[in-house]
Amino acid sequence: MLKKRWAAAAAAAAGLVLLTACGSGGSSGGSGGAITLGFAQVGAESGWRTANTKSIQDSAKTAGIELKFSDAQQKQENQISAIRSYIQQKVKVIAFSPVVESGWETVLKEAKTANIPVILTDRAIDSPDKTLYKTFLGSDFIAEGKKAGQWLTKEFGSATGQVNIVELQGTTGSAPANDRKKGFADVISADPKYKIVASQTGEFTRAKGKEVMEAFLKSQPKIDVLYAHNDDMALGAIEAIEAAGKVPGKDIKIVSVDGVKDALQALADGKINHVVECNPLLGPQLMDLVKKVAAGESVPERIETQETEFDQASAKAALPQRQY
Ligand code: AHR
Repeated sequence: MLKKRWAAAAAAAAGLVLLTACGSGGSSGGSGGAITLGFAQVGAESGWRTANTKSIQDSAKTAGIELKFSDAQQKQENQISAIRSYIQQKVKVIAFSPVVESGWETVLKEAKTANIPVILTDRAIDSPDKTLYKTFLGSDFIAEGKKAGQWLTKEFGSATGQVNIVELQGTTGSAPANDRKKGFADVISADPKYKIVASQTGEFTRAKGKEVMEAFLKSQPKIDVLYAHNDDMALGAIEAIEAAGKVPGKDIKIVSVDGVKDALQALADGKINHVVECNPLLGPQLMDLVKKVAAGESVPERIETQETEFDQASAKAALPQRQY
């Protein structure tokens, strides 16, 4: 009882939203034999994230797993508090999508000492100590950045002058921001005509994407391409481009990452030129892994999701069935 109160107080102090999505909540790994999973989500910053949260909540229900869910509002300290509260509650398994790559050793050692297995989902951490977690389930973000770069070099292959690129980065220090930047840079650096003239974080949100694009449009006399690390920032930037009297997709070509419905619609409408997919529907695979690690079974060190890319024709074809 005291421990429960402590966990609730710690969560409240950190401004966390802690929810039990399924079942009534036992204190030692689940009531009535159900596995209890503590999931520390990044936040609700994007359409991708909303789809990811729904996938996790729905599939926990389907799998009969008791889910304790928290939203860290894009703050690492909130995620650390949530993980500590799950340790106090003695959940069977902890899973989380780390806001940033660094700074997880202390809290993950606490989970390890408490014998609670941890699964990383969506985003990785940069610790060399692989014993701190059982597995990683998610995308190859470097490959996604490379795909964006390959589209660009094909699209502008015959251009003779300098190609000016502006980049909207994701959350500073996060795996998708670091890796998508690197993958893209690795490809375009092969030809000096490609130049990133401005690069700044838009924090993976529509509002910030719009705000930063407004600043780019004021400071840069010639922008040929926008590379956005996610769709929400690209969609915000489209508003800024249109407000500046330019035509997105024509005056400024746009490539982004995710593949949410709104972006596929913008691609179908010719306002975005290319979308690299990042799959948020990780819930069913995650629940399988939770069951396996809870049973002490071994799991692969890394599981990557299968992803595609969209041009205008494939976006139009995919839209009627798109779930998110
Ligand atoms: O970690 C995945 C990224 O996080 C998605 O690309 C982005 O939309 C989200 O906020």
